[in-house]
Amino acid sequence: MTALAPQTIFLKDYAEPHHWVDTVHLTFKLAPRATRVMSKIVFKPNEANTGDLILNGEDLTLLSARINGAAIPHEQTDRHLIVKQADLPDGPFTFEAEVEISPETNTALEGLYMSSGMYCTQCEAEGFRKITYYPDRPDVMGVFTVRVESDLPVMLSNGNPQASGEGWAEWHDPWPKPAYLFALVSGDLLAHSGQFTTMSGKTVDLNIYVRKGDEDKCAFGLQALIDSMRWDEQVYGREYDLDIFNIVAVDDFNMGAMENKGLNIFNSSCVLASAETSTDATFERVEGIIAHEYFHNWTGNRITCRDWFQLCLKEGLTVYRDQMFSGDMRSHAVKRIEEVLQLRARQFREDNGPLAHNVRPESFVEINNFYTATVYEKGAEIIGMLRRLIGDEAYYKGCNLYFERHDGQAVTIEDWIKAFEDVTGRDLTHFQQWYSQAGTPRLSVTESWADGSLTLTFTQSTPPTPGQDDKRPQVLPIMIGLIAPDGSEVVPNTVLEMTESTQSFTFDNLAERPVTSILRDFSAPVILQRDIDAKTRAFLLAHDTDPFNVWEMGRMLAKDTLVAMITEGTPPTTDYLDALKTMLSDETKDPAFRALCLALPSQDDIAQTLFDAGTTPDPMAIYEQREELRHILASFLQDILPDLYDKNDAGAFKPDAEGSGKRALRMAVLSLLTLNDQGKAAQKLFETADNMTEQAGALMALLSAGIGQEELASFYAQWFHDRLVMDKWFMMQIAVAAPLEAAHIAQNLTHHSDFDMKNPNRFRAVFGALQGNHGGFHAPDGAAYKLLADWLIKLDPLNPQTTARMCGAFETWKRYDADRQSMIKDQLKRILGTPNLSGDTTEMVTRILG
Ligand code: ARG
Ligand code: ZN
Repeated sequence: MTALAPQTIFLKDYAEPHHWVDTVHLTFKLAPRATRVMSKIVFKPNEANTGDLILNGEDLTLLSARINGAAIPHEQTDRHLIVKQADLPDGPFTFEAEVEISPETNTALEGLYMSSGMYCTQCEAEGFRKITYYPDRPDVMGVFTVRVESDLPVMLSNGNPQASGEGWAEWHDPWPKPAYLFALVSGDLLAHSGQFTTMSGKTVDLNIYVRKGDEDKCAFGLQALIDSMRWDEQVYGREYDLDIFNIVAVDDFNMGAMENKGLNIFNSSCVLASAETSTDATFERVEGIIAHEYFHNWTGNRITCRDWFQLCLKEGLTVYRDQMFSGDMRSHAVKRIEEVLQLRARQFREDNGPLAHNVRPESFVEINNFYTATVYEKGAEIIGMLRRLIGDEAYYKGCNLYFERHDGQAVTIEDWIKAFEDVTGRDLTHFQQWYSQAGTPRLSVTESWADGSLTLTFTQSTPPTPGQDDKRPQVLPIMIGLIAPDGSEVVPNTVLEMTESTQSFTFDNLAERPVTSILRDFSAPVILQRDIDAKTRAFLLAHDTDPFNVWEMGRMLAKDTLVAMITEGTPPTTDYLDALKTMLSDETKDPAFRALCLALPSQDDIAQTLFDAGTTPDPMAIYEQREELRHILASFLQDILPDLYDKNDAGAFKPDAEGSGKRALRMAVLSLLTLNDQGKAAQKLFETADNMTEQAGALMALLSAGIGQEELASFYAQWFHDRLVMDKWFMMQIAVAAPLEAAHIAQNLTHHSDFDMKNPNRFRAVFGALQGNHGGFHAPDGAAYKLLADWLIKLDPLNPQTTARMCGAFETWKRYDADRQSMIKDQLKRILGTPNLSGDTTEMVTRILG
């Protein structure tokens, strides 16, 4: 065996495989440390690209390998098994192998592993090669039949159940699929079951499998699944295609969930939900992720990716689909604001730093490092822009053409775009540049008015990103509206298509000079740089018909207020305070919307804003002034807070849009109220709440005010037995800790008996919260930098994927002062200097250092 160094793989080097797969038969004899996997794979040579048989395989003990029943000469490296073309029979042949693997010691949670006593798999992107020798690439699709032999009662795999007996079960999946969609589960599990009748009248059995004790947390997920199945039929005309759809909840999981054909596997935090243990945010996330994984059945599974560079083909599209679904289930306006908050916090942050990359990357070392906000969220924004540019009708026509034309294939972004070119007759070459140019465009605008004509002149430019110095203009759909001085809308939603660096659009025959509402509904993922005077802003705040822009005007006011407090020591203007008060008291506005208006920009957001404006952000000043503003708001709003708090009691808990909106506003109000009443209201709510949204909301309000230690202890006593609630307990106290205490608290919690570094949810609860506490993470002594680096070094040998992902905490290092930069660089270099550091983490740290 020869060990190979990590390799960079390039999109331009794509070549078809030498062999296609026809059928695959797998038998698993499950045992914790010595699982046997017998495979029987029918290959046929690819006449278009003949050559050696190349099979991927990692961490496998090969016991035997045969072709057409006979032993074969083969070469083995630590990554491949290769049979020379000269040693292969002519035409199709059957390859059989037996390997041994050890699920119990698989802490990377990739391939076949054990979690809380159950066997489960995660194969995307390249985990199947840790199960058996196989051409582990998405363009190779085969029909799988799987036999599971196990001591544990439940045995599941993809497709339909075929036969079973004492200690064994057989599954057959009629739909050809790439290996990354393979899944297997065996455990002592309970099912929460239901049924769905499809549009053509077929009955599908639905099951959510969980460990004993979790069966009361499945009803919401099951309903979300049913809603998703119906929505995909009604909106996209897509029907489910097997007799059964299974979901399994797993405690140890690197990501959110996985769309394996007919057998979705979920991080338990993304499927389990109950009023007592889950917040409204969790319910919303569960609904969205269930939909996401289900929607992959068409966008990802029936039509998959040719290679991993095309990841956005399935992820961007599926995120877009789940966003539309959630908007339909709840409120589009509120959902859009939440999406933009996420996009700015994660994707713009990524685009502005050393990890910036194309939505379709051109090279990678470890594909797991590209499951990013850019591929997912910016990928979804591209679909939204496409739809805005061509219109709803052409969008759905194009989707249908794509589904018909490519069903059963592994395709590329070009294939996707071609479907829309064909239905519209448009040339989308320029638009497609969104996939190959990284960075967030800056868009500025000037207005001129003469003789009843308004001219808007837009200018766009994209700053350089690593490896891409020169940027070209993007195609931008800019949705605008014009509002007359009396508040009436004279030009409703209109999409301007910008393709040049500078471009003007004129509106004629206007009686009076209107006020312009620009980038409605956040119609393109850009940073709008608009010099807007206080009067215009106040006007739009009061009269804009686009809810996103109303929120955006308030957001700009809040940001300007904070920036002025930080850089000039100027107190908040009455403009801002009055506008906020008016907005909060406006009962015609959705409580969820008002809650979003009351939320202040995050410290990280302020840091990026300052940096963009040429000021080095001082994390302590950001923290202090944001706290100061909270106190100013609490006292300015003191007359209306108690009333808002009482009026937005949603009563009996229902996790719907209405109830969760009220609770969101109520909790935002409580957080300020707690600064006025020494925590009386919050303490009372903490004791009486019958749901986690309010219990945790009350606790957070107390902790944010620097009190609540007793409640924190009683929260532990009440919930120590519940893993997911305990993640919250770890997370909350770190998230709101004062800057100089955060690292210390996090460090103490790593010594807590309930801390388990092997569980990604728990690791993220501590270190995700620490990096999310901006002031705490960037405390002047550098303690948090060091603590995180210590633990990344410890985790890397066990779980490279989660380690590499957490390195993103350091991606913003170039924003800060020389001291912080050098402290962060020292930690990054220390990580990089660790002997045997994984390829995953090496790639990330190297890119971050730049
Ligand atoms: N396809 C999954 C989803 O977005 C994500 C799985 C990614 N897993 C990984 N190890 N990179 O739904
Ligand atoms: Zn996905």
